Amino acid sequence: MTVLCRRNVVAAFVVALVLSLLVIARPAHAAPGPSFTNPVVPAPNSADPTLVFHNGFYYYVATTWTSDVVMRRSATIAGLRSAPEQVVHRTNGTTMWAPHLEQINNRWYLYYSVEQSGAPRRTHVAESAGSDPLGPYTYRGVLNLMPNNGWAIDAAVVRLNGALYVTFSAFAPEDDLQSLYLAPLSNPWTASAYGRRLSAPTLSWERQNGAVNEGGFLLQRGGRTFLTYSASHCNGPNYKIGMLEYRGGDPLNASSWTKFPNPIFQRSDANGVYGPGHHSFFTSPDGTETWIAYHANSSSSQGCGTTRTTRVQKVNWNADGTPNLGVPVSTSTVLQGPSGEVTPSYVRIRNRHSDLCLDDYNWGTTPGAEVRQWTCNGLAVQQWRITSAGDGYSTLVNRHSGLCLDDFEWATDPGAEVRQWTCNDFAAQHWRIS
Ligand code: AHR
Repeated sequence: MTVLCRRNVVAAFVVALVLSLLVIARPAHAAPGPSFTNPVVPAPNSADPTLVFHNGFYYYVATTWTSDVVMRRSATIAGLRSAPEQVVHRTNGTTMWAPHLEQINNRWYLYYSVEQSGAPRRTHVAESAGSDPLGPYTYRGVLNLMPNNGWAIDAAVVRLNGALYVTFSAFAPEDDLQSLYLAPLSNPWTASAYGRRLSAPTLSWERQNGAVNEGGFLLQRGGRTFLTYSASHCNGPNYKIGMLEYRGGDPLNASSWTKFPNPIFQRSDANGVYGPGHHSFFTSPDGTETWIAYHANSSSSQGCGTTRTTRVQKVNWNADGTPNLGVPVSTSTVLQGPSGEVTPSYVRIRNRHSDLCLDDYNWGTTPGAEVRQWTCNGLAVQQWRITSAGDGYSTLVNRHSGLCLDDFEWATDPGAEVRQWTCNDFAAQHWRIS
């Protein structure tokens, strides 16, 4: 082989090596999660969903029409359907609507509306004891959003210009239109002034089956701020999503916002989806994707009742920077899960002597739930997710309860009890498995 030829061979090899590295270069996105079809949460507790991804899990709350706020927790969207409902807050009211879950300063807040002893429906707030979205929660009081303790629903937190606000829906005294409002918050559970109207249902597509603006939810990207909301009445198939954009100035002034002339998400008769709305947005586990969770009916004759089920799908973005929610997908469409979902691996812990398995006794889900041994059955109550706690220690989370194996009451004597408790990453929940 001449020298020239050998050089060509080396050059060709280098080029091939570089190309192969380029070809195997990993995309910015992580792998998608397990596939699923909608609805991801079936009736009845499945309208007006708020879905938040935090520390490896999705946390889901929705309208229950009872006195309780119940929460589901799952590592994947596909797992939401089988995730147990856990009562995280008893509201002391009735027909709880549209809970909104928000983390503020390492505490979680639930904003929800209930009726109480015949008084108008109002918005109330509960605060988590610690950093666990599963609670427990303490009632923090009612938000004074409208004059004369007036009716107010569908609260959601709005963070803008470094300040806290709450958007909500109420009937405007001046024209009795159920409109979209914004009020300032001095802290997560106190409105420092009554709400100011940002949008009234004035356009024809906002007045079908009833003139309504409600279910506001903030969406921010690329320096732009959108306040999306539901329009028309939920008692018909024409419930849909509209959008305002913040243009600067005092957010409490309606003139600081412009309304997009057309809806951004609405019914698809071809896909059999009616009245899509009262949504929330969430980010994929790897932070690269925006998704929407919304409710919808499967028949044009259904309305505001418990037929509304929760669906999710990915949000795209238009070249001009506005969100493109597309069309609500059919319940037969198979979707890949959000990017970066990790299906946690679970282990079974079996005793050599008894040949029994470590078990969340009686399917407990509240802090202090017992741990015993039971005949190995492979059920969720006997599945434990081991996660590193650092320094060679691990925490053991039960798949059913979502609670952590815990040295109960920090005991140190032989015979000390083992129970389950809200995961807190304290030493009493750190186990060295050697
Ligand atoms: O689902 C109950 C109420 O109906 C919600 O608060 C509102 O958004 C919807 O119209």
